[in-house]
Amino acid sequence: MKQALVIVSFGTSVPAARKSIDAVTRAMAACMPEADLFLALTSPTIRRKLRARGEQAFSLEEILEALAGYDRVVVQPTHLLYGIEYDRIRETVAAFARRLPGLVLGTPLLAGTEDLQALAGILLEAHPRSGEAMVLMGHGTEHFANLVYPAFQTVLRLRGCSDVYVGTVEGWPGIGDVIDQLKADGVKKALLVPMMLVAGDHACNDMAGLEPDSWKNQLEAQGIAVRCHLEGLGSLEAVQALYCRHLRML
Ligand code: CO
Repeated sequence: MKQALVIVSFGTSVPAARKSIDAVTRAMAACMPEADLFLALTSPTIRRKLRARGEQAFSLEEILEALAGYDRVVVQPTHLLYGIEYDRIRETVAAFARRLPGLVLGTPLLAGTEDLQALAGILLEAHPRSGEAMVLMGHGTEHFANLVYPAFQTVLRLRGCSDVYVGTVEGWPGIGDVIDQLKADGVKKALLVPMMLVAGDHACNDMAGLEPDSWKNQLEAQGIAVRCHLEGLGSLEAVQALYCRHLRML
């Protein structure tokens, strides 16, 4: 049986951030050693930037076009949640269903309650702290799936962790909502961690950047001492294993 594994990511133009995507890709490829590996990037801007640097960069359509003759094609997004991007991937996959009868689509990393509980355990173990709150920076979306972020804070509360806060750059709750909670709870020290696959532009600039409105500077303006962790979730082995668990369920 001829098999293909197509890993789909948004992509990143920050070279140092790519190691998180690469690590997740390697782990998933190792779960399907019999499959030929293909990488698709959903962001046209990032594809353009990479091509301008002389690197190869393909959309999911371009890759699926080339996979006629494969008996089984597994499309696995590296996306954290169901959302606008995932909906588009699903539409593309549906459009190829007749041409590629063995085509299946994997779920995002956080596809249900168990995944949120697993990630909560992973993050608590990865970032041992004492007397320091943890503030997670998610991306956020207008999509209904944005509810994963406040739900994740609730998952942590229900485990007894009242010192972990979840905010988003582009969705709800925002950094203002997080600061209100930090002040109400009398937090004096905080560790900032991206709740994103990669520590790319958002983590480097919106979270840890030098601008006065970066999360780091907004927290420091409130008298909170801040430490920044500049690594994406994809760098954590336990997160790579969670992606692989999803892949094996297909
Ligand atoms: Co963004």
